[in-house]
Amino acid sequence: MSAPNDSYDPVEVTPLHPDEVARMRDEALAAIAAASSLEELKEVRIAYAGDRSPLALANREIGSLPPSARAEAGQRVGGARREISEALKERGAVLEEERDNRVLVEEAVDVTLGWDRRPRGARHPLTTIAERMTDIFVNMGFEVAEGPEVEAEWYNFDALNFLPDHPARTMQDTFFVEAPSGGESGLVLRTHTSPVQVRALLDRPLPVYVVAPGKTFRTDELDATHTPVFHQLEGMVVDENITMAHLRGAIDAFVHSMFGAGLRTRFRPYYFPFTEPSGEVDLECFVCRGESVGNPDAPCRTCGSEGWIELGGCGMINPRVLVAAGVDTERYSGWAFGIGVERTLMFAHGVRDMRDMVEGDVRFASAFGMEV
Ligand code: PHE
Repeated sequence: MSAPNDSYDPVEVTPLHPDEVARMRDEALAAIAAASSLEELKEVRIAYAGDRSPLALANREIGSLPPSARAEAGQRVGGARREISEALKERGAVLEEERDNRVLVEEAVDVTLGWDRRPRGARHPLTTIAERMTDIFVNMGFEVAEGPEVEAEWYNFDALNFLPDHPARTMQDTFFVEAPSGGESGLVLRTHTSPVQVRALLDRPLPVYVVAPGKTFRTDELDATHTPVFHQLEGMVVDENITMAHLRGAIDAFVHSMFGAGLRTRFRPYYFPFTEPSGEVDLECFVCRGESVGNPDAPCRTCGSEGWIELGGCGMINPRVLVAAGVDTERYSGWAFGIGVERTLMFAHGVRDMRDMVEGDVRFASAFGMEV
């Protein structure tokens, strides 16, 4: 049995009591203020503004009030709920801003940092200097010729007028790969780039103007001034009316371009079986320009106080070589030179120890920079 609802006093319905509504509101506001992250605020929202929150449940009680009391209770609960939703919105805005600021700091991209820390390689300075040396002659109109590193003994020695008993053929200098058999030439690791002279003459129509950079091999121990694998730049001209003056001019042009304008060169008499006459080319020391000679107070490390630096060998091509390559020696003559690439690198860049060039430490190559 229940009494008529008219006499129902809203303040008796506990959840709708003003104090209780205020308490629920304050509890919610405190929880909102205490939420320290958007995640926490989400939980607070569910707890205090969701369908099952105390005020939502209180709201449902309104229907059980007498009509006269509903408006007031509705305003009270509605007001509290509005306050809570306002507070949620404000707190949400604050927390979002905080999050955005934090993300900006935490996920900041420092565009000034190197993005790629993988060490970048560099081309080996021997490669780049050989290309520079080659280019000097290419600019003068020379073509680039090539030959194999494992070479027929015939090209490496016989065709170049090395007699069978020439000391350069002995085990001291030459890496022999295959002995001659059945009339076939043996194989060696080429001891110089000069076999390319013969190959170029056999391959190309005359006149021939070529340079041949390449790897060469001799049975030397690796030390500061020797390496069993080294490089040469061969140059050769065969044309009509060629004289030693052309050779001198080409060498001078190379030296001036490589080491500096105005440097002097000198030819010293020498012997090679494949050139006659032959010479060794020296270059005036570009550091002391001869000042260190006989002057112990000012020694020069570059030329060892000699005043001159040895660059390589050269000479007028021996007609016997031209004949071996099928060239008409009545009409044609020529010259050739062979310049050491390691020596050129040592002098051009002050490299003191050849071992640095062959040991493969990338720091050596990197120091020359990324030349292309
Ligand atoms: N081939 C010789 C050497 O290796 C150098 C050279 C080349 C000399 C061409 C004369 C002409 O020492």
